[in-house]
Amino acid sequence: MMFTYRLLGLALTLVTSVHASSHCSVEDLSNFISQNDNAEVLMAQSISSNGSFGEVGNVAYPKNATYLPSLCVATINVTSSPTSSYTFGVFLPDDWNQRFLAVGNGGFSGGINWYAMGTGVKYGFATISTSTGHNSTGQDMSWAIGNPETKADWAGRSLHGSTVLAKQIVEQYYGSAANKSYYSGCSTGGRQGVKSAQDHPEDFDGILAGAPAWMSTSQQLWQLKVGAINLPVDGPGYLPTALFSVISQEVLRQCDKSDGISDGIIMNPKHCNFRPEKLLCAPTPANQSACLTAPQISTLKQMYLPLIQFDADVNNLTYLYPNFGLGSELQMPASFGTNNEPSLYGTDYAKNYIFDDPDWDWRISFNYSTFVEAGRLNPGNVNADNFDLSGFHSRGGKLITYHGYADGLIPTDVSQVLYDETYMAMAQQGVNLDEFYRLFFVPGMQHCQGSVYDAPWYFGASDHASNLETNGQHKFPVPGVDDAKHDALLALVAWVEGGQEVDQLVATKYENDTVSNGVLRQRPICKYPGFASWDGEGDVNVASSWSCVGYDS
Ligand SMILES: *[C@@H]1O[C@H](CO)[C@@H](O)[C@H](O)[C@H]1NC(C)=O
Ligand SMILES: *[C@@H]1O[C@H](CO)[C@@H](O)[C@H](O)[C@H]1NC(C)=O
Ligand SMILES: *[C@@H]1O[C@H](CO)[C@@H](O)[C@H](O)[C@H]1NC(C)=O
Ligand SMILES: *[C@@H]1O[C@H](CO)[C@@H](O)[C@H](O)[C@H]1NC(C)=O
Ligand SMILES: *[C@@H]1O[C@H](CO)[C@@H](O)[C@H](O)[C@H]1NC(C)=O
Ligand SMILES: *[C@@H]1O[C@H](CO)[C@@H](O)[C@H](O)[C@H]1NC(C)=O
Ligand SMILES: *[C@@H]1O[C@H](CO)[C@@H](O)[C@H](O)[C@H]1NC(C)=O
Ligand SMILES: *[C@@H]1O[C@H](CO)[C@@H](O)[C@H](O)[C@H]1NC(C)=O
Ligand SMILES: *[C@@H]1O[C@H](CO)[C@@H](O)[C@H](O)[C@H]1NC(C)=O
Repeated sequence: MMFTYRLLGLALTLVTSVHASSHCSVEDLSNFISQNDNAEVLMAQSISSNGSFGEVGNVAYPKNATYLPSLCVATINVTSSPTSSYTFGVFLPDDWNQRFLAVGNGGFSGGINWYAMGTGVKYGFATISTSTGHNSTGQDMSWAIGNPETKADWAGRSLHGSTVLAKQIVEQYYGSAANKSYYSGCSTGGRQGVKSAQDHPEDFDGILAGAPAWMSTSQQLWQLKVGAINLPVDGPGYLPTALFSVISQEVLRQCDKSDGISDGIIMNPKHCNFRPEKLLCAPTPANQSACLTAPQISTLKQMYLPLIQFDADVNNLTYLYPNFGLGSELQMPASFGTNNEPSLYGTDYAKNYIFDDPDWDWRISFNYSTFVEAGRLNPGNVNADNFDLSGFHSRGGKLITYHGYADGLIPTDVSQVLYDETYMAMAQQGVNLDEFYRLFFVPGMQHCQGSVYDAPWYFGASDHASNLETNGQHKFPVPGVDDAKHDALLALVAWVEGGQEVDQLVATKYENDTVSNGVLRQRPICKYPGFASWDGEGDVNVASSWSCVGYDS
């Protein structure tokens, strides 16, 4: 099956202009930033069309960007303090769409995300990624201990600094500044995007932020908490990984039809009254591996409860953090740890990032007040909890956030809390949040990407292209249907530059995630608080059989 790339949105033209890459040298690029005595160009080279690029030894992002358009690649090192530095990479395409794009990072990884840059540059953006200031894989936080400056780089300083410098390079290299600047990232990358809108509103005109770990300190301690709830492994309430597919099947059995259709997709988990009790083993179960004991059901119920702190002294309840959503069961075990310990995302974070104490022991020192203390310490100013987006709003910035309903690593509700808190902060200033900030929940999508039971989830967001590659060939994000209706980044550009509001996006699922197999199903995802509703007649696998409903005006 052949697909034609439709690069042009309805009212949007991604104009590109050809530039000779005669300035692609360390010397020229160094001159472009010579007024910054804390920055050094480490490398610059031309890549010809269909070439590839990556770094041997980049433990965070080992995958090369491939199938590149002809471009100039460079790496710049920035000294951010007497004890810290970060690097960033830049792709300057010969066919430039006159726009700038920064892509985000993931987990606690440190390194330049060349692969994601490779996706961005295919649209024609001058594209950058920051290393965030250290080298590590996603769960390795050993770099953080006793390094407040490196924490500050990871938390936000490196993305801002890289963006400011890279814009200078872009302007000098092409002879004119980028008309508009964009950002795309998920998870930690989502937090980076939200934080940028809050703290550096001038950096980007449009921000696409998925599953943002915006309340970073609480997110990591929540993972410690859910892991601890499921321990010890020899306790009566322990839920082994294998049981989660049994639980997931039961959630699906009870909830799938809450949207009128049995298709493996729970369109709105909040429309289902799930009863875990139905999983209780009979006195003599036919299959002991397909049911839960009473203590196990009690553990499971805790997974669906938000963390709330009761302070008896002042008789007060404080909402600390949301809970796993219904439908996220298949990915829940990814939030737990191994060896009778909670996830390193929680324990190593507390030791290395929050308390700088390798001996900190969750079994002794972890309780609800740890959340409050971590938020107070807020190392590196990591939390993106400044809900006043008036700076971003007044410069015309647009923010799109999205979150999978089946996310088992960051609770889906954190995106709702962020939206609602920001709504309050802006409404108090007389601003309707809908003017510039839209939130999309994605039924069946797991953490940032991938879905359970064939739910459509390709819509051009962070890392969506990587699943579709064949023979190492880096693809354009939503092959066959790449326009502002199906690709969130193009939709964002159309909103920023053409005023086309983004009310819905159409998500796509390719049969077996293989583009050449063709499209299996497409379905709209709707801006919060709406949801997609079937018309009761049309083919459920076709987007036009659905519409977005659930708005109060
Ligand atoms: C691009 O490069 C790959 C090898 O990396 C090759 O298989 C393919 O044929 C090339 N495509 C074009 C259009 O040159
Ligand atoms: C990735 O790219 C680098 C340089 O661009 C190259 O040295 C390395 O061999 C490539 N790795 C793979 C797996 O192709
Ligand atoms: C981090 O990795 C990059 C390559 O990705 C390498 O150039 C640099 O030297 C490394 N830094 C440290 C401190 O290991
Ligand atoms: C970047 O510069 C710092 C000094 O400020 C140095 O310690 C570090 O090794 C440099 N990084 C690279 C990758 O050259
Ligand atoms: C960018 O701005 C220049 C100068 O105003 C204009 O000629 C060009 O069409 C703009 N490009 C895009 C893609 O909007
Ligand atoms: C028991 O249930 C488990 C989990 O659903 C399943 O994998 C297994 O095949 C079942 N065994 C039998 C004998 O039905
Ligand atoms: C009571 O709880 C709210 C949040 O639910 C919190 O903001 C407030 O600080 C708490 N008040 C006291 C006195 O603890
Ligand atoms: C929580 O733990 C801290 C030490 O980590 C301790 O000082 C505090 O008293 C504990 N709070 C409660 C309510 O147990
Ligand atoms: C997709 O995978 C399923 C299960 O492995 C298989 O039955 C089906 O034939 C595949 N479809 C295509 C078009 O390859």
